[in-house]
Amino acid sequence: MEVKVTILCDNLAGPVSFKGEHGLAVLVEVEGKSFLWDCGQSDVAVHNAKISGLDLRKFDGIGISHGHFDHAGGLMEVLSAAGPKKLFMHPKALEPKFFMAGNIKRFIGIPFQKEAIQSACADVVISSDALEVLPGVRLTGEVPRVTDFEGFEANLYCRTDGEIRPDPFTDDQSLVVDTPDGAIVLTGCAHSGLVNVLKHVLRSSGKIKAVIGGTHLGLGASPERIDATLDFLEEILPERIVPCHCTGMNATIQMVQRLKDRVIPGQTGMMISL
Ligand SMILES: [Fe+2]
Ligand SMILES: [Fe+2]
Repeated sequence: MEVKVTILCDNLAGPVSFKGEHGLAVLVEVEGKSFLWDCGQSDVAVHNAKISGLDLRKFDGIGISHGHFDHAGGLMEVLSAAGPKKLFMHPKALEPKFFMAGNIKRFIGIPFQKEAIQSACADVVISSDALEVLPGVRLTGEVPRVTDFEGFEANLYCRTDGEIRPDPFTDDQSLVVDTPDGAIVLTGCAHSGLVNVLKHVLRSSGKIKAVIGGTHLGLGASPERIDATLDFLEEILPERIVPCHCTGMNATIQMVQRLKDRVIPGQTGMMISL
């Protein structure tokens, strides 16, 4: 069983013609089917798919990891290139989300209304449950918080029932491909906490083969949180780790130092065969 993962949007641009932006989009191909995990924030994922020789019209569905613009802002660009597709998202992903610090208040949620999304997609599945999106490929659903070092994140808020409050990120999900050698886990930003995500997947899969995506260990993540996350990765030793998007330079360097050649920092255009 071969699983191919192509990074179509990331903060870091790959060589020559690939573009980068703050965002994430990853195409997963497994057993002749393919699924797009997140869409980036603009047309970068569409551009990079063309450069990669990937025909977006052929993929089978889209999942949105959580309701931030850098994961869902490119949705309409993707749909206009790919045609209507089936879309999966958590209901709380549609809540307005904000970055707030001092006098700054910036909208960072999904920049489309639910009705516009529904009319552009073939079908929209809005659910908080773990769901199979393709044979052997599933959403984690909501991630239980079990660690004591992965709590609320400063400056990130949502509006729930008319009230602005720290975002609990109940909408944050990851995508899991089950293989005979363990689970391949694709995160979005891992706002639930990477270790919470991996512990949740381990309850059903037993082993983690690979971790790919954002880990939210950049600005604002304490040295203790980075250390504890790396301790856990050393304990479970995935054969491949591809940190990208919001992982941050500091955590990425420490990850490479501690887990050596298991770690390949991501960039657009990167293809990973597992
Ligand atoms: Fe993000
Ligand atoms: Fe995010």
